[in-house]
Amino acid sequence: MFEQLKTLPQDPILGLMKAFREDPRTDKVDLGVGVYRDEAGQTPIMTAVQAAERRLLGTETTKAYIGPAGAEGFNQLIGQLMLGAGHSALSDGRATVVQTPGGCGALRMAAEFLKLCRPDTTVWISTPTWANHIPLLGGAGLTIREYPYLDRTTLSVDFDAMISCLEQADSGDVVLLHGCCHNPSGADLDADQWAAITDLIERKGLLPFIDMAYQGLGEGLEQDAQGVRLMAERLPEVIVASSCSKNFGLYRERTGALMLIAATPAQGKAAASQLLSAIRSHYSMPPSHGAAVVELILDSPELAHQWQTELGAMCDRILDLRAAFSKALAPAGDFSFIERQRGMFSFLGITPQQVQILREEFGIYMLDSSRINIAGLSAATLPCVSEAIREVSGR
Ligand code: LMR
Repeated sequence: MFEQLKTLPQDPILGLMKAFREDPRTDKVDLGVGVYRDEAGQTPIMTAVQAAERRLLGTETTKAYIGPAGAEGFNQLIGQLMLGAGHSALSDGRATVVQTPGGCGALRMAAEFLKLCRPDTTVWISTPTWANHIPLLGGAGLTIREYPYLDRTTLSVDFDAMISCLEQADSGDVVLLHGCCHNPSGADLDADQWAAITDLIERKGLLPFIDMAYQGLGEGLEQDAQGVRLMAERLPEVIVASSCSKNFGLYRERTGALMLIAATPAQGKAAASQLLSAIRSHYSMPPSHGAAVVELILDSPELAHQWQTELGAMCDRILDLRAAFSKALAPAGDFSFIERQRGMFSFLGITPQQVQILREEFGIYMLDSSRINIAGLSAATLPCVSEAIREVSGR
């Protein structure tokens, strides 16, 4: 049975993680996988998470099943984090939130749900997008089409190209958007662009599907949710996939959520039943631990404050690194886009050959596309990384 299988190439992000781990150099720098790192290069457990875990250990009474939707308390609090506490979609029964195994679980279950809504659903994704969007959505059987997003010369959003391409979409088509901190480019839509894309989606009868993997790491929890909230306010149906991997640092606990907003409470109820049935037939129920930790944090004013302060410091650190890095690279060209962009990622705009030289000669790891994780820099490594990039840019 297995003899006909061919070995697949490594996933580019996971393959880079492995190559970095196996590199014996002590001065190597990891700007590859999208995990937050502190000044010491560590991905620490947030102190609010540690405190919640201690509480959980003392109070948890059972490991019995939690059900396909996950924890009700987590779902309510995450819905409020995404939409703001008083949002009508949450109070009038149009929104369903379910806990999922990470943001990936949310994306895949959204795709399975869309397939149930309409087997020939087309989803439009940005070029570029996070590489795993394609297998996660395409693997459910959705047709994938691409809209241009990034102007490769200025490394900013090519909004005219995006809009004119999406004018070709048919009613009922789905548009995948990044809520904030666009992965891989760091180029986000501004408030006017969110308003314009909302108009287009409304006029053409499209369905927005927003990936919100980085809320709180762009400009702050509220600011980063502006686009999602605008669409939830104005449009009858919205899908949002969110993740607690980055903003709670719960990567390996696989904690995420999927929100469906329907036009009416009755449609919301039907949609929820379909989604829960799809979950049951895929993984039955999500893991509990990460969501229990998040629920404890968001439900406690003291822990929520502690978490927000810590997340705010992470966000500020990324913004400071962006400013310092763009300044340090200035002698090699115009890298001011790095300071304007948001979240963990930016493209350097260098060639794959230059990326390879940085990896082999200098031990600096980034994706072949030249996507770097800004949070992988530190005050200690920024000067030598900048110097190496300046050197390699001239070759
Ligand atoms: C990334 O883009 O590096 C992260 O989202 C990690 C992953 O799973 O790809």
